[in-house]
Amino acid sequence: MAASAKIATEFLKDPLIWLFLASLAFVILQRRRLGSAPFPPGPKPLPVIGNMTLVDQLTHRGLAALAKHYGGLLHLRLGRLHVFAVSTPEYAREVLHVQDAAFSNRPATIAVVYLTYGRSDMAFAHNGAYWRQMRKLCVTKIFSRRRAETWLAVRDGYGALARAVGRRSGEAVNLGELIFNLTVGVIFRAAFSTRDEDGLDEFIAILQEFSSLLGLFHIGDFFPWLGWVGRRGFNRRLRTGRGALDKFIDRIIDEHMRRGKNAADPDADLVDGLLAFLAEANPISGKHREDALRFTRDNVRAMIMDMLFGGPETVGSMTEWAMAEMMRSPDDLRRLQQELANVLGLDRTVDEPDLDKLPFLRCVVKETLRMHPPIPLLLHESAKDCVVGGYFVPKGSRVLVNAWAINRDPGAWKDGDTFRPSRFMPGEREAAGLDLKGGCYEFLPFGSGRRSCPAQGLGQHAVEFAVAQLAHGFNWELPDGMKPAELDMGDIFGLTALRATRLYAVPPHHASHAPCKYCLTCPM
Ligand code: HEM
Repeated sequence: MAASAKIATEFLKDPLIWLFLASLAFVILQRRRLGSAPFPPGPKPLPVIGNMTLVDQLTHRGLAALAKHYGGLLHLRLGRLHVFAVSTPEYAREVLHVQDAAFSNRPATIAVVYLTYGRSDMAFAHNGAYWRQMRKLCVTKIFSRRRAETWLAVRDGYGALARAVGRRSGEAVNLGELIFNLTVGVIFRAAFSTRDEDGLDEFIAILQEFSSLLGLFHIGDFFPWLGWVGRRGFNRRLRTGRGALDKFIDRIIDEHMRRGKNAADPDADLVDGLLAFLAEANPISGKHREDALRFTRDNVRAMIMDMLFGGPETVGSMTEWAMAEMMRSPDDLRRLQQELANVLGLDRTVDEPDLDKLPFLRCVVKETLRMHPPIPLLLHESAKDCVVGGYFVPKGSRVLVNAWAINRDPGAWKDGDTFRPSRFMPGEREAAGLDLKGGCYEFLPFGSGRRSCPAQGLGQHAVEFAVAQLAHGFNWELPDGMKPAELDMGDIFGLTALRATRLYAVPPHHASHAPCKYCLTCPM
């Protein structure tokens, strides 16, 4: 008996045996599935590792290429994970509308769970009471169109953008960087009512490191039994990144606590609202009230983090893409400048009520959002076993809705890869009727359904404002005699699809110090 136990122990020590048993389990599980709905088509998985060899294809472009072979709903197996890519408007409607509740959880990697304090934020929280509460708070405390502070922040921020450009006339301006930095300031003011932008440079560096950390994968994400491999260095990097952000965010929280504003005040901001929740959940005794949601300082930190990440990268990158597309399409830039001159004249800058009178500006922004949605893959997770279009999607699967591919779907868009804002002009049969509210499944830059962007209005208006300021104020040229067709239009893949190279452009040189046609906001 002892001898056979010894043989069994020796037997199980052999890694090849484990590989064989895992393959067997994999095959049996695959077989069991055949009785019910099948998995959608996809590249053939290898035993145990599945389609891990395709892991570098999990980008908007890689998945769009795979969809050409396998169709609008495709299946990949990455270790223990089932991954589904949705690449047509029809399947997007099924996932984001018809079965919205079942697909409203969020997937998260080991890195994301750590960096969001265990999903204590809103963007990575699963669908549930906490997420609903946070979403309501954000919508009333920052994203509401009635909140004057928010719109003042947008107007002042992009006024500063025009002044900063005016000061640099005649030289090549790193427009991408300038737009991003000023957008951080806008979101700062909108969400945290602070004009104090001390340490903004330090913060931007933290943001960039954090952004790359959020995109990190660990082998344990796919094979939990390998979760220990290389964990020390990985954890150290995450701890350092989050530690730096913690310090920064804690400063914002402490300032708000000192200020002690009542959350019911009309000018109370998101942090005031979050602190009121915190006080309610943790009364003086320090105990949670029975009926209160569990809410801690980590939730406040994580929510602030969402705003800092959700805002600047999306709005900043959209504005940079819009300007880059117009530099490549000078006729569109001229048409927009003409519209701005007709509506605003040449002696004042754009204001919020003007935006509704500038249809071509709106088309430019919509067309940019269509071609370069800043969040190209919408990350969802199934909360239960589902059937989509006759195919099986098990509970806990990652569902990546490829907004980038859908926004260019050849079945829905004519010349989908061409920048042509006029397709959205009122009266144009092609796309005039498509709005950004999420009901048009061929046009999903803000997503759709309950996990869609809560800041759609703010985001769209902020981009419109910034583009209007830049196009109205200056007659842009590319640097060093570069031709429009030579401008690099490549993107990089992360949580957001930024331009691969920063956009440099030259505003015209001032002949005199008098305000001129090209610099209405002349700082001199
Ligand atoms: C042009 C600008 C923007 C675009 C295109 C955009 C797009 C999106 C998209 C596509 C999603 C995910 C939808 C889904 O998963 O189905 C999202 C979610 C989100 N966005 Fe935006 N966004 C923009 C601006 C902003 C701004 C300015 C903020 C905040 C200051 C923000 C905060 C958020 C948050 C917190 C979520 C997560 C919502 C949830 O999970 O419930 N976004 N956004």
